[in-house]
Amino acid sequence: MNRLYCAILVLAVAELTTLCTADGVCSRICTTVVGTLSDQNDDSTSEVSCPVGEEMTDCTSFSPGSSERDGELFTHAGNGIRVCVARNGRGGEGVRAYARCCNWPRMTCEVVNGNRSSSPDDAGSMAICPAQKNCLDVFPTGCSIRSPWKGLTGVKPFMPNYCHGYNELVDRGLWAAAVCCSAPSLNCNTKSALSGSAKGDKATIGCGPDWILTGCSVRNPRHTTLGAYIDDDDNCVAVNGADGKAIWAIAVCCKDTY
Ligand SMILES: *[C@@H]1O[C@H](CO)[C@@H](O)[C@H](O)[C@H]1NC(C)=O
Repeated sequence: MNRLYCAILVLAVAELTTLCTADGVCSRICTTVVGTLSDQNDDSTSEVSCPVGEEMTDCTSFSPGSSERDGELFTHAGNGIRVCVARNGRGGEGVRAYARCCNWPRMTCEVVNGNRSSSPDDAGSMAICPAQKNCLDVFPTGCSIRSPWKGLTGVKPFMPNYCHGYNELVDRGLWAAAVCCSAPSLNCNTKSALSGSAKGDKATIGCGPDWILTGCSVRNPRHTTLGAYIDDDDNCVAVNGADGKAIWAIAVCCKDTY
């Protein structure tokens, strides 16, 4: 895309955003929509969507009772609206889908699916965001991971452009996905916290002043988890799935300068 085109577009965007701020209708607010607990059958799902007009910046899954999750994925409903789907694994005790939904001026998001990782020895699945969209910087606001064969050990956001899904326990296939969002002057970073080492221990991390939490992931090598979710106080919470090792909660925190 040529530079003149970008200069014109960015000016137009700046003007629109200023208007919208003066009207007071452009506050950036993200909330979490929580699905109902799935039943305990293999592959049963919990599904949620965002309110119309809001962007889904992340989709995570959490199972209160077991590590047997197949993870989370994105689909579309008949009306084209994005759906966050959490899937129960064989022998699991039910999962919930958690969608992060943002009302953010001029934000647009797309889901990028990563390549297949089919053995613990390979480099894992990477979902890579484009650097720019319509002259605006793009960031991975949330990372998801799924495998129909469970054994998930997590997915990690790397700024400025990708999600890495790790494969230590799945020998047939897993996939990472990134939600890649752009908005005027968007900037995103990660923050993380470590849990205790007992099963059920939580790692909790918030974003701090001026930053808004858009996504939440869990990660620890060779160690299963109950998943991750964003709670009512805007914290990213990851829950340990087995005894003996701590796990990380990783929050994606974003802001713009308007
Ligand atoms: C997935 O893609 C990334 C980036 O192109 C690459 O480095 C990695 O090796 C790939 N993973 C597999 C399992 O092929």
